[in-house]
Amino acid sequence: MISVEGLTKYYDDHKALDNISFEIEEGHVYGFLGPNGAGKSTLMNIMTGCLSATEGRVLIGGYDIFEEPNKAKKLIGYLPEQPPFI
Ligand SMILES: Nc1ncnc2c1ncn2[C@@H]1O[C@H](COP(=O)(O)OP(=O)(O)OP(=O)(O)O)[C@@H](O)[C@H]1O
Ligand SMILES: [Mg+2]
Repeated sequence: MISVEGLTKYYDDHKALDNISFEIEEGHVYGFLGPNGAGKSTLMNIMTGCLSATEGRVLIGGYDIFEEPNKAKKLIGYLPEQPPFI
């Protein structure tokens, strides 16, 4: 299961994500739809541990992506638009 709880992201004083919460059950397939600049890439990069959040948390299979990144990332396959070096 993927659990996103109250994610907010600021780039300096620009709010890119505003208190995003949702859950995705195991075995389900979802896609993000939204206009340019809606925050899709920001959200995906935070969910996969490639970018820090200002507030909120993400659980991947019960593991917090920020607190236990190695365990959480073992459950993720992610091909970002621009590969981060972390
Ligand atoms: N590194 C950054 N520094 C400052 N602002 C950023 C940065 N990355 C994204 N933003 C801003 O945050 C908001 C969300 O951008 P994001 O790239 O997450 O949207 P997106 O939905 O992926 O857009 P697109 O459909 O164009 O890929 C936009 O207003 C964007 O200008
Ligand atoms: Mg994008």
